[in-house]
Amino acid sequence: MNLRFKLTLYISFLLLIVIIGVSYNIFIAQKKFLTQQFSENRERTFKSFISMCNEAAKVKDDLQVYKAVSLVVSIYKPSAVYAGYVNSNNVSMYVSRDNNKNIDSEFKRRIQKSSIDFSEKYTSLSGERICEFVAPLFADGINNGTFIVGFSQDEMQRQINKGISTMTYQIKVVSTIAMLLAILLANFLGYTFAKPLKLLTDASEQIAKGNLDIEIKLNRKDEIGILSTTFNNMAKQIKELDSMKDSFVSSVSHELRSPLSAIDGYCDLLIDGVQKDYSKEQQLKGLQIIKQATIRLTNFINNILDLAKIKANKLEIKKTKTDMQSLVIEIVSLFQPLAIQQHKAIDYVIMDKIPLVEIDAEKIKQVITNLVSNAMKFTKENGKIIIKIFPFSPGYGDNYIEVFVQDDGIGIPKHQVDLVFEKFYQVQEGEFKRPKGTGLGLTIVFEMIKMHKGYVWAESDLGKGTTFKFVLPK
Ligand SMILES: Nc1ncnc2c1ncn2[C@@H]1O[C@H](COP(=O)(O)OP(=O)(O)OP(=O)(O)O)[C@@H](O)[C@H]1O
Ligand SMILES: [Mg+2]
Repeated sequence: MNLRFKLTLYISFLLLIVIIGVSYNIFIAQKKFLTQQFSENRERTFKSFISMCNEAAKVKDDLQVYKAVSLVVSIYKPSAVYAGYVNSNNVSMYVSRDNNKNIDSEFKRRIQKSSIDFSEKYTSLSGERICEFVAPLFADGINNGTFIVGFSQDEMQRQINKGISTMTYQIKVVSTIAMLLAILLANFLGYTFAKPLKLLTDASEQIAKGNLDIEIKLNRKDEIGILSTTFNNMAKQIKELDSMKDSFVSSVSHELRSPLSAIDGYCDLLIDGVQKDYSKEQQLKGLQIIKQATIRLTNFINNILDLAKIKANKLEIKKTKTDMQSLVIEIVSLFQPLAIQQHKAIDYVIMDKIPLVEIDAEKIKQVITNLVSNAMKFTKENGKIIIKIFPFSPGYGDNYIEVFVQDDGIGIPKHQVDLVFEKFYQVQEGEFKRPKGTGLGLTIVFEMIKMHKGYVWAESDLGKGTTFKFVLPK
C-alpha cells in the first residue's frame, strides 16, 4: 500500500468517525429540542384557548365558547384530535378532528367536569396515542366549566420525525460533500508528501550507486523543504569527502612514494659508491637524505596512527609539569640544520616568568613540530619563523599561557583560515605551488590541544604570512 493511498484511507476513516460522532450528537440534541419545542407549543396553545374560553364562560356565552372549542381543532388539526367544554350546568359541547362516530363516542365520554387541571396520556380505541389537557375555568372563585383538549402524541412524533428526517438529509448531503473534499484533500496531501519522498528515495539510490552529482530541487519552505536542503547539503558533503578521499589517496601515495624512491635511489648510489670509491662527504650526503626520507615516512605514518587513535578515543595524555622554554629550544635546535639548508631563519622569543605547565610534553612537542614544519614548508627562501611564548593570554586570561608560531610565508586566504584544521584539508589557492601533504598535521594539532583543554586558531591572509596561536591552561 503506497503512502498516498494510506494517507487517503486514514484521513477518510478519521473524518468518517468524526462525522458519525458529530451527526449522532446533533441528532440526539435536535430530537430533544424538537420534542421540547412541540410540547411547549402544545401547552402554550392550550393556555391561550383557556383564556379565550374563560372570557366567554364568565359571561355564559356558550356560542363564543363553542367557537373557541371548534377553533382549537380547526387550527391545530391534525395535532388537536378533539376539544370539548362542560359548563356549570353540566351541558357539554364537543368538536372532533375526524368526525367518526365510533371514535367520537369514546372521546365524547371523556368530556367531564373537573375541579383540578391535569394532563393525561392514553391510547385511544383506534390505537392513537393521545395527550389530554383538562382545565377548570375559574372566575372570582366560581367554577364556570371545564375545558378539555386531546392532542395526538403520534402526530407530534410524526412532526418531530419529519423535522429530524429533514435534518438527517441535510447532514447526509454535508457529510458526503465533506467526505469527497476530504478524499480529494487527503489525496493531494498524499501527493505533496509522496512526491518529495520519491525524489529523496531516487536521489539516495543514485548516491548509493556512486552518482554524487545530485541535487533535489524543491521550492518549499516547510519541513520537507528543510529536509531536501539538508539532503542536498549532505550530498554536497559526501561529494567533498569523496574528492578529499581522492586527494588523500593521491597525497598518501605521494607521501609514501617520494621518500621511498629517495631512499631507494640513494641506497643504489651508495652501493655503487662503494665500488667507485665515493668520498666521505658524498656518502654522508646520501645517508643524510636517506635519514630525512625515513623521518618523513615515520612522521607520516605516526600522523595517520595518531589520528586513528584520537578518533577511536584511544590516545592517552600523560601530563607532567613541563618547562615550555626548554621544550621550544629543543624543537628550534632540531629544525636549525634544515632551516640552514633551506636558507631560512628559525628563532624563539620567550617572555619572563613562564610557569611550568601540566602537559603531555611529547604531544605538545608534536603540536609545535607540526606547526613549525608547516611554517618551514610554506615559507619561501630567506623566510623567518619565530616561536613566542607568553605567560598569559590576552584573549583567554591569566590562567593560560599563549604560544605563537609565526612565519612570513605564503599565507592562507582569509576565508580558509578556519578550514585548515579539518581532516585532509589543503589550501589550493595562491601563485606559490604548495608542497603536497596529507592535510592531517593541523587536525592532529587541533585534537591534541583540545585534549589539553586548550584552544588553537590561526591568523593569516594570502601572501601575508601566518601566525598559529594556541593557549594551554596553566
Ligand atoms: N604556516 C602556513 N602557511 C601557509 N599555509 C599553511 C600553513 N600551515 C598550514 N597551511 C595550509 O593548511 C593546510 C593544512 O595543513 P596540515 O598541516 O593539516 O596539512 P599538510 O601540511 O598539507 O599535510 P601534513 O601536515 O599532514 O603533512 C596546508 O595544506 C596548507 O595549505
Ligand atoms: Mg602540515
